[in-house]
Amino acid sequence: MTKPSSASALSASQIITVDGTAASGKGTLARRLAQELGFAYLDTGALYRLVALRMIQENHPASDEQAAAGFARDLARSFTLEDMENPAIRTDEVGQMTSKTSLYPSVRSEIIDLQRNYAKNPPPLPTGAPARGAILDGRDIGTVVCPGAPLKLFVTAKTEIRAERRHKELQSKGIPATYEAVLAEMRERDARDAGRETSPMKPAADAVILDTSQMTIQQVLETAMALVKSRTGFLATH
Ligand code: DC
Repeated sequence: MTKPSSASALSASQIITVDGTAASGKGTLARRLAQELGFAYLDTGALYRLVALRMIQENHPASDEQAAAGFARDLARSFTLEDMENPAIRTDEVGQMTSKTSLYPSVRSEIIDLQRNYAKNPPPLPTGAPARGAILDGRDIGTVVCPGAPLKLFVTAKTEIRAERRHKELQSKGIPATYEAVLAEMRERDARDAGRETSPMKPAADAVILDTSQMTIQQVLETAMALVKSRTGFLATH
């Protein structure tokens, strides 16, 4: 597990949750907000992706819940921030496997503990300074993992626009894929993420919904910063 930044654990009042659909811009927003505020950032999708990567590497089918739960337990015991930088977790193959293995309650319970621990005891910032709070992005952070957070954002955009963004991203990396295939996969993944019984993707009752279909990254960031200012005390001491 990561080293805590200080001996005293953070309270829920220093946590921002950013949930939302795939390719909605939630990761970019969460990372930029964390930089602006001096908060630690955790991409929780990467944790589920690390479990799925091991399933693929060790030739387990997605139906093997026991193997997935074992890998989640291993991750919870030995997670490091460097693991998140592994580019192998970003492929579509891993994304598809992830949306299946993240359905298992036995996998989710291991990962939930890891996330809560990170939120309460975030590691120091890359500068070495202690984190002033924590931002976690995912699907169920506001509803299940940190329901007491004072600011919960739910980021989304029209499916066609998200597919267009993902398609462009793949093209820029030289990964071959048609727009139609990306759109079909995105629809499939949304349906699985939102339709599962355990921790389905949905906005918390008190979440602010940001539809980024017609917004630039800068506009999304400015809107979120205005919410941070009006709804929390985070900026008062910054
Ligand atoms: O955000 P992402 O595309 O990296 O997420 C990959 C998959 O992980 C996604 O299909 C749903 C799952 N996930 C989840 O179930 N809960 C989270 N908190 C984050 C991601």
